[in-house]
Amino acid sequence: MSSKSLSKLDAPKNITANEKILSNNDFIVSKTDLKGKIIYCNEIFMEIAGYSASELIGANHNIIRHPDMPRIAFKIAWDLIQNNKEFFGFVKNLCADGGYYWVFTYITADLDTNGKIISYTSIRRKPPQSAIDTIIPVYKLLQAAEKSGGMDASEKVLNNFLEENKTTYDELVINLQNGA
Ligand SMILES: Cc1cc2nc3c(=O)[nH]c(=O)nc-3n(C[C@H](O)[C@H](O)[C@H](O)COP(=O)(O)O)c2cc1C
Repeated sequence: MSSKSLSKLDAPKNITANEKILSNNDFIVSKTDLKGKIIYCNEIFMEIAGYSASELIGANHNIIRHPDMPRIAFKIAWDLIQNNKEFFGFVKNLCADGGYYWVFTYITADLDTNGKIISYTSIRRKPPQSAIDTIIPVYKLLQAAEKSGGMDASEKVLNNFLEENKTTYDELVINLQNGA
């Protein structure tokens, strides 16, 4: 492994179907600066993602972005955290070897004593398989909408889905994580 932080060009080109499953006690933690550059990650993050600290620190967090993730998920996340609101969501992440792992993610802003956002922190846990099974087809629909009509289209698809299921984004995500 090199000692230089990674750029998007270093992301694996061969995407595989190798899944890594977190154990129940795993907490994957990372912190970023205001632009999403990684400034801290814990051991389990490095172990699962397959990178060293020196590769990850200074890299943009999108280095582990999986191509199956709809863009709207990250838009929702950034819109919330930049307004000092918490984000919860299911994220499929990319490993250095081209494999993937699913996480239930919590992201929040870190404030200084004046209430100014100085960094962001994310903590991730293992999601139940039932949540992943529910979210995969939803993300496929969102990605398909994005391919044809951009993020406006996927936002509409998401809102329709939530309306049809008489739920909100937060409620859906929390219920799925609780195995409902
Ligand atoms: C604290 C924090 C943690 C993040 N964790 C992840 C993550 O685990 N996986 C991911 O794909 N994006 C994560 N992101 C979002 C990325 O910054 C980025 O928005 C996303 O990967 C999409 O990148 P792209 O628009 O350049 O493709 C995180 C952002 C923050 C602020």
